[in-house]
Parts: sequence; C-alpha cells; structure tokens
Amino acid sequence: MNFFDQIVIPPSANHLLLLHYILIISLLLFVPYLGLLLGASFYSVFFKRIGEKSGNIQHIRFAKDIIEKLTITKNAEIALGIIPVLSILFVYAQLLYKAQTIAMTVISLAVLMFIISFILIYRYRNTFKVQSVIDTLKKYVNKSDSSNEGIRSVNEYEANLSSAGNKAGWIGSILLYTAAYIFVASIALASNPQEWGSVNNILLVLFSWEAIFNFLYLIAASGVITGAAVLFYFFKWQGGLTGMDEEYSKFVKGFAIGLAFFSSLFIPVLLFLNFLFLPQVALSPASFLYLAVTLIAALVLANMLYSMVKTSDVNPATAIFVLVFIVFAFNILKDQSVMGNALGEQSRQIMAVADEHEKEIKSKTVSLTGVNAEQIYATKCVACHKFDTKLVGPPYQQTIPKYNGDLNALAEYIYNPVKKDPAYPPMPNQGLKKKEAQALAKWLLDQVAAGKK
Ligand code: HEC
Repeated sequence: MNFFDQIVIPPSANHLLLLHYILIISLLLFVPYLGLLLGASFYSVFFKRIGEKSGNIQHIRFAKDIIEKLTITKNAEIALGIIPVLSILFVYAQLLYKAQTIAMTVISLAVLMFIISFILIYRYRNTFKVQSVIDTLKKYVNKSDSSNEGIRSVNEYEANLSSAGNKAGWIGSILLYTAAYIFVASIALASNPQEWGSVNNILLVLFSWEAIFNFLYLIAASGVITGAAVLFYFFKWQGGLTGMDEEYSKFVKGFAIGLAFFSSLFIPVLLFLNFLFLPQVALSPASFLYLAVTLIAALVLANMLYSMVKTSDVNPATAIFVLVFIVFAFNILKDQSVMGNALGEQSRQIMAVADEHEKEIKSKTVSLTGVNAEQIYATKCVACHKFDTKLVGPPYQQTIPKYNGDLNALAEYIYNPVKKDPAYPPMPNQGLKKKEAQALAKWLLDQVAAGKK
C-alpha cells in the first residue's frame, strides 16, 4: 500500500487503454525534450566554463546559443517538460495500483528532481539574458560616469550574477542527469513485474544492468538529438541564426555533426543490449516490429550523419532531425508494447478491483440517495399489484412491456398516474418523490425483463 493507492481510483478496462495512450503521448513529448535538455545544459555549462578560463569568445557565445535555442522557451519547458512528466507520474500511479513494488516511490523521486532541475536550468538560462542587459548598461555607464563608482558596482553585480548562474547551471545539470538515471531505472522496474518481489530497496533499483543500458541508450539518443537540433536550429529553422561569422559557424558545425555521429554509433549496440534484458513474457510480434523500425531508422541516421562528417554539408539537417524523432518514437512504442505485455497480470488484477469498486459505489449511491426501490414496492404497491395476476390493478407483466423500456414515461406514470384502461378503476396517486418514482420505474423494468413472477 503506498501513498498513491489512497488517491487513485482503480482504472477499468477502457480507462486502462486510455491511460496507455496518454502515457505514450506524454513520453513522446517528454523523452525527446529531456534528451535536448540533457545535451543543451551539459554542453552549455561545459563551454561556458572552458570559455571563461581561456577567454575564447566562440565558446562563450555557443554556451549561450545552445541553451537558448534548444530549451526553446519557458512555455516549452512547462508544456514539454513539467506537464508531461507529471502526467507520466499519475498514469504510472494508476497502472501500478496496489502493485507490490517500490517503483512508484522511485518514480516520484525522479519527477521531483526533474522539476527542481528544470527550475535551476531555467535560472541559468536567464543569467545570459541579464548579462546582455548588463553589457548594454556598461557601455552607457562608461560614457556618463567619470568617477567610476557606477562601473564598479555594475562589475560587482555582474560577477555575482555570473557565479550564481554557473552554480545553478552545474547543479541543475547534475540533478537532471541523476533524475534521468533514476527515472529510467524505475521505469525499467515498473515494466518488469517478475522483479517486484526481489527488488525492494532503491539501491537494487538503481544498480541493475537494465537500468544502466537504458540510461546509456538515453545518453546516446540525447547526443544525437542535441547534435541534430543544433544543426536544425542554427542553420535551418527560420533561415538559421543571424550574425554567425565563418569561424563560429565552422566550429558549431564541427561540434554538432561530430556529437550526433559519434552518439549515433552507440544506438544500435545499446538497443541490442537492452533487448537482451527484456523479460521473456514481454516479447510479442509488435515489440519486435517496433524494434526493427527503430533499428533501421537508427542505421539510416548514422549513415546520413557519416556523409555529413565527410562533406560538412548541413542541408540534410531537417531530414536528420525528423529521423531522430522517428527513432525516439518507435523506441517508445516498443517500450510501451513490452510494458503492456509484461503488465498483463497486473492489469487483470486492477480491472477486477475496478469492478468491485464500481459495485461498491453503486450500492453506496442507493443508500446515499435514500431510495430503495424494492422496499417502496413492498410497502406501497403490493396491496394492488402482483407481477403475474390481476389484483386491484393489472399485473405488471401485462402493463410494463407497453413502455418498451422507456424509463421516463413509466416514472412519469408512477409519479402522476392518469386514466388508462377502462376495465380498471383509476390508480390513486401514491405521493412518491420524483427520484423515488424514477428508481421504482427502473426496478420494475429490470424485474419484468428478468421474467419475475
Ligand atoms: C390502490 C391500489 C393501487 C396501488 C396502491 C397502486 N396501484 Fe398501480 N394501478 C392501480 C390500478 C387500478 C391501475 C389501473 C389504472 C388504469 O388502467 O387506469 C394501476 C396501474 C398501474 C400501472 C399500469 C399503467 C399503464 O400504463 O397501464 C403501473 C405501471 C402501476 N400501476 C404501478 C404502480 C406502482 C409502482 C405502485 C406503487 C408505488 C402502484 N402502482 C400502486 C392500482 C394501484
């Protein structure tokens, strides 16, 4: 029993299917964005540091450009980062309803760390903006302030800003990698019910071959998408970045093509390795098909990147960017199909619980609204009616079928009887409430349909 089991309503069969779709969509948004963020934050912090040490302006500019372009905007961080990762968390909480595993606890930890790291990386990114404001300010202060008092305080502020920014960048980036590792490890556990019993502390979750290979795969995929996104955003998107001189653009191209190509070489190997560690029950024709498509796309990608290394022609950048998404998408589909198979037994149990739960709710609503049709019938109707024989009133088996299942019409009659059959006296109004009449009508229809005598 964990915290989530108390707030989660067990999903029914249709609901489970919907949850799987929501999970796939959330992962399709989140995982590529995570890949970009892993690459952009690390290389930005890295190039800023070596640039500040050596005074290399290209490196400093690249540190700024890569984090600004690849994290897209603050809204993207919310739409592609925070919202999908929260919905992933809640979907898992439902899929793993009452499952005897610590996977849920570990996923929550990862999600919390993601959110903190997103905030830190956002702060880091923002220091570049403030920095450019300071640069403008400095020019102005230089001209107007002869005492140098102003320039000193601006310099001081700048130094503080830069060190706070660097700190946010490093910590944010390290936290992001840690969160990504924990996330990958806990998801691997979540899709492997055979391990739930034995993997009962967080260290066992983190130190498994599956977790390690899946994380390495994520890092390789992150390298590919980061390189491809740099090529796309710097050279293609809306005509590319403005104000890049020859030397800078050569540096960017070299870095991005190299990173993407080098990383792409690991993808097929790691795909193969983590396939070896999949639980037996999880393999199905669909998961093989998705794996095959992922593999083919990855090989085509590596091939295209190789020719880019040879020619340094960035024209195929858009095609490469699209291909990277195909690799991400099909690998996610493969993982989901594997998980769907592996969680078969768990899903059946959840559905059984959901049925129980639904029944419980139904019986509760009867007692909550205070309407018990059978009881009203026994006190108010039996004096004049039977199901199969005539009493004061006609037998239900004759009259109820006339309503053809029309619950409202029957309820209306019971609520307010009108003259019907000349062979009978009129039925006196029984003074029921609307909802009592409704409940009785439903009950009578059900009884007659079931052939009650
Ligand atoms: C005092 C006797 C009496 C009581 C009590 C009574 N009924 Fe009737 N009921 C009649 C008579 C008489 C008719 C025939 C009226 C007519 O055909 O106009 C009738 C007809 C009906 C019909 C058939 C209507 C139709 O379309 O032909 C239904 C349904 C019905 N009653 C339901 C109920 C229900 C439900 C209760 C209890 C809440 C109830 N009655 C209580 C005397 C009674």
